[in-house]
Amino acid sequence: MPRMQASDTADVSRMTEVSRPIIQGGMGIGVSDWRLARAVAEAGQLGVVSGTGIGTVMARRLQDGDEGGHIRRALESFPDPQIARKILEDFFLPEGRPEGRGYRLNPMPNLASAMSILRLTVVGSFVEVFLAKEGGLGPIGINLMEKVQFSNLPGLYGAMLAGVDVVLMGAGIPREIPGALDAFSENKEVSIKAAVIGEVKGTAPQMRFDPNLVFPDLPKRMLRRPAFFAIVASATLAAHLARKSTGRVDGFVIEGPTAGGHNAPPRGPLRLGVTGEPIYSERDSVDYAALRALEIPFWLAGGYGSAEKLQEARALGAQGIQVGTAFAFCEESGLTARLRNAVIAQWARKPEGNGASIFTDPLASPTDFPFKVLPLEGTLSQPEVYGLRERRCDLGYLRQVVAAPDGGVIYRCPAEPVADYVRKGGKVEDTAGRKCLCNALMANIGLGQQREDSFLEPALLTAGDDLRALARFVPEGRDSYRASDVIAMILGASCGNTSMKC
Ligand SMILES: Cc1cc2nc3c(=O)[nH]c(=O)nc-3n(C[C@H](O)[C@H](O)[C@H](O)COP(=O)(O)O)c2cc1C
Repeated sequence: MPRMQASDTADVSRMTEVSRPIIQGGMGIGVSDWRLARAVAEAGQLGVVSGTGIGTVMARRLQDGDEGGHIRRALESFPDPQIARKILEDFFLPEGRPEGRGYRLNPMPNLASAMSILRLTVVGSFVEVFLAKEGGLGPIGINLMEKVQFSNLPGLYGAMLAGVDVVLMGAGIPREIPGALDAFSENKEVSIKAAVIGEVKGTAPQMRFDPNLVFPDLPKRMLRRPAFFAIVASATLAAHLARKSTGRVDGFVIEGPTAGGHNAPPRGPLRLGVTGEPIYSERDSVDYAALRALEIPFWLAGGYGSAEKLQEARALGAQGIQVGTAFAFCEESGLTARLRNAVIAQWARKPEGNGASIFTDPLASPTDFPFKVLPLEGTLSQPEVYGLRERRCDLGYLRQVVAAPDGGVIYRCPAEPVADYVRKGGKVEDTAGRKCLCNALMANIGLGQQREDSFLEPALLTAGDDLRALARFVPEGRDSYRASDVIAMILGASCGNTSMKC
């Protein structure tokens, strides 16, 4: 029963509670962290934390000394104190890491992740949502990507333990997630189909998460089922999810190819233009009439971060907009100050004349989804920096699951060392131009790995085409802006006043 029934008062009030004109897009890894989501909630809009790699994010923040004690404070509220204590014992370094020491490496997640990884992910997700919601400033969502499949179930359960209000999920077809949320609300086991390359003999591999097994001592209470918003690129996929999902879909974010982060590939065979970027055509335009006919609220994303575009979205029947790029470079974002400042200096001061443009890279992401790359010196966007990095795979979120001849599965990533990938049956040509997003995106937020030879994992930034308009938030005489400036700028003009809740 995917469509929201007006008679279902609980659902109606839940939607009234979370529905805002602006959704701050989930931005991984850790760009939309709890601080940004809080700032957005405080300004009356929907703040969204990223759940991608969240266990590692928490573990690394603890190894850096947990400045301000925020994680430790959140851990005190985790409903299973023994597990919270174990995580502190394993990762917390009061003085931070000794000079030159890298972060502790954990086992990589997979279809049957180690118990320690499942717990780390649940607790990491709990902590991030808890901190964003602390003090009850407003509803908070969590963003996960369907393709980053190994951590999704524990990430969702942890977020629900912290009372997350909305789950937003894209980069794939999250058909089984709504049902998973229903089951988790009753602390029941969830088992969903894993995405596997090739044909597996026997039973199709599943991803399982049983709260009773992972947290046998946790007092089980009913958890509130969050609203579920699917992030898609077409009305066709929205209609499919509305009809075929395993539970209720409460909203859609319709994201176009100008958005930051991963983009949906163009429909039909992939064609590249002279710049080497995917060519989008009429076939990729959204059928708004079909979308409205679903009678499920929707938001538009991809270059919508302005008052005019909010109005345009509303005229098309949308509840509002989802905005990423404009928030990614504000003071509260998780990006390091050094990267934020460099981007503002380059893009806000001379947006037309800086000679650079955002590149929609068909290869960079091991997921095969095009990934928007922001060219910046010292990052993996530069061939010389890319060439210096020795390939390795030690976080493994984006590893593909491949059917093995013996009936089992193997894990591989086209960005891992080429010889390993080929040994696992991959084609050498599929490794060209691939970038280790797992390590690079950790570096973006100041949690990049330091190698034994003192090599520091380089960053790789993403942003949407909207970066050209960054100057509107950074007036002359200022070199930074806040999330509330973005919101005031978008809502101020479109409401005819500066009220935050128009
Ligand atoms: C730095 C950055 C990281 C992003 N990471 C994610 C992500 O992890 N998951 C996701 O669903 N969308 C991600 N996005 C997309 C945003 O959530 C949002 O939909 C998009 O940025 C909207 O378009 P805009 O960039 O033109 O504002 C990211 C965008 C940016 C700029």
